[in-house]
Amino acid sequence: MSTQILPETTYQIPEGDLVRVRPVREEDLLGMEWDGEFAHFRRLYKQHFQNSRSGNTLIWVVESEDGEIVGQVFLSLLSSQSELADGIHRAYLFSFRLKPDYRNHGLGSHMLDFVESYLVRRGFDTLRINVARDNGQARRMYERHGYRVIGPEEGRWRYQDQFGQWQSVHEPAWRMLKKLK
Ligand SMILES: CC(C)(COP(=O)(O)OP(=O)(O)OC[C@H]1O[C@@H](n2cnc3c(N)ncnc32)[C@H](O)[C@@H]1OP(=O)(O)O)[C@@H](O)C(=O)NCCC(=O)NCCS
Repeated sequence: MSTQILPETTYQIPEGDLVRVRPVREEDLLGMEWDGEFAHFRRLYKQHFQNSRSGNTLIWVVESEDGEIVGQVFLSLLSSQSELADGIHRAYLFSFRLKPDYRNHGLGSHMLDFVESYLVRRGFDTLRINVARDNGQARRMYERHGYRVIGPEEGRWRYQDQFGQWQSVHEPAWRMLKKLK
């Protein structure tokens, strides 16, 4: 898909930071590891970053007033799994997370609205999200935003960690969908 200039947005945390939600840059990759908590995803982030150059995957990070990376959201527009992202109608949101201090202040909702309106402008009509079955809080937030569970997801996948070792994940999930128009 063609590369386009991505929009960005800001959000005022009530009685807190004015954070910036902006397209990722290569120098953000280390900050996205959150002081080691997500170091095991180093190679994965790098691959997604490389994909983002083609415009098939889009990545926004959340930057605090101090320049710290405090969150992220990835959006797949075109994937080999065309049931998730087909480049025209369907898009898939993943790797959505905020550091604990930045949760429950409306920032996640603002980011969802931002991503959805971007997709509508690009002509997409559905957005899919997988939410872990034990993550009731995130599921509730998505339901409030108009997402509905459309089925179970086995949640088995593999990745190479920062040492090149293959790791297997089994995280049963619900697939959720929102019709954007
Ligand atoms: C999921 C996540 C990205 C959502 O972002 P968030 O900023 O916490 O989301 P919001 O603040 O918009 O909404 C969460 C709750 O805060 C409440 N809230 C919204 N605006 C608020 C405000 N201004 N002040 C206080 N609370 C607010 C919402 O009502 C919502 O309540 P609910 O859980 O009962 O629906 C974030 O919580 C997170 O990183 N969680 C850990 C990782 C994760 O689970 N990711 C999702 C994977 S699918």
